[in-house]
Amino acid sequence: MAEQQAGPPGFSVVPGAAVHRALAGRRAEIIDLVEDAYRLHGEGRTVNPPSYFLRFPDRPSARIIALPASVGGEVDVDRTDGVDGADGADGVDGIKWISSFPTNLDLGIPRASALLLLNDPRTGYPYACLEGSIISAARTAASAASAARRLAAQRGTPRRVGFFGTGLIARFVQDYLSQLGWQIDEFGVFDLSAQYAASFADQVLGPTGRPVRVHPDAESLIRSSDLIVFATTAATPHVTDPSWFDHNPLVLHISLRDLGTEVVLRSANVVDDVEHVLKADTSVHLAEQRTGNRDFLDATLYDVLAGTFTAPADRPVVFSPFGLGVLDLVVGAHVHRLATAAGDTVEIGGFFHELDRHQSAGAS
Ligand SMILES: NC(=O)c1ccc[n+]([C@@H]2O[C@H](COP(=O)([O-])OP(=O)(O)OC[C@H]3O[C@@H](n4cnc5c(N)ncnc54)[C@H](O)[C@@H]3O)[C@@H](O)[C@H]2O)c1
Repeated sequence: MAEQQAGPPGFSVVPGAAVHRALAGRRAEIIDLVEDAYRLHGEGRTVNPPSYFLRFPDRPSARIIALPASVGGEVDVDRTDGVDGADGADGVDGIKWISSFPTNLDLGIPRASALLLLNDPRTGYPYACLEGSIISAARTAASAASAARRLAAQRGTPRRVGFFGTGLIARFVQDYLSQLGWQIDEFGVFDLSAQYAASFADQVLGPTGRPVRVHPDAESLIRSSDLIVFATTAATPHVTDPSWFDHNPLVLHISLRDLGTEVVLRSANVVDDVEHVLKADTSVHLAEQRTGNRDFLDATLYDVLAGTFTAPADRPVVFSPFGLGVLDLVVGAHVHRLATAAGDTVEIGGFFHELDRHQSAGAS
């Protein structure tokens, strides 16, 4: 949150390197922060309208999504950063603007790029622009780690973890899962690109010191994993045989569109927000269209956090998080405060200029 303004509203930029420095070593804190945001959302104390998808007829695989959101003052975003907490007391508004261009991989740059704008809830003035892709990846991974730790606490800790799709999001999820302190017997990896799978196995999983198996096909990975992390860019379901899940694994379905309806219907389904996730041809959206109802949705993550839902051990459990703008805001506001306290922001003096309604500030 912005400080009390004595003069003109300030505006700062937080580049990716500063975001990275702010988040370094704070995974446990970010997981807790994201759980706080889910609790606020579950209690109806956030504003999180539907995401807006900008698509292009000439570039069908690309999209840019706008996620506006508002978080009320109750979120205790200051409790762990050691920075004076008064500034966080009255919440934050803002928007994430995130592009997904899967063909970027051919150019040697990541698929997603993003900005996060934070607005002062007293005046509406934007007060910060942050590099948003790291915040987005971190909040996605923290959300996955939260679901994993809560659901695993009910069903047993996975010992074999499989990554289906091995991009940047999979890397962040592995990083945040490692915070849970599980004893892993073996990691598994599968990707359409053998090169990406091998690189992930070597560079991301190699340093864990645990055995890593690169699987030749999807079925082999799924049957060999107690926890499966889907982080592909598949646009339509490609994993359709429910018998692959006969061992009742925990599934973090982060990429949302991998599982066929039969797999969804055979599983217990936990989502972040029912209205959000039943959109945009996600696997659960397709299941709703097929069945004509939502009865196959068992709980939200908020229900799990609140202890009103216990995940079964005799069915697969699938967590499908659509991704809420409130998570970006809470993590982004935290990062902004940390970067400000560390002197790690770029202040843009005079960004807002016409501040006298009847006389230009620049006029003499
Ligand atoms: N739910 C959320 O909140 C949330 C947030 C961020 C990202 N995501 C999603 O996570 C996914 C991964 O993002 P990323 O940045 O890591 O992408 P990326 O492009 O870096 O990696 C995706 C990987 O998946 C592989 N892949 C694509 N289709 C596959 C298939 N059918 N089978 C096996 N592998 C396949 C690609 O080869 C690539 O290595 C995207 O779909 C993105 O939309 C979800």
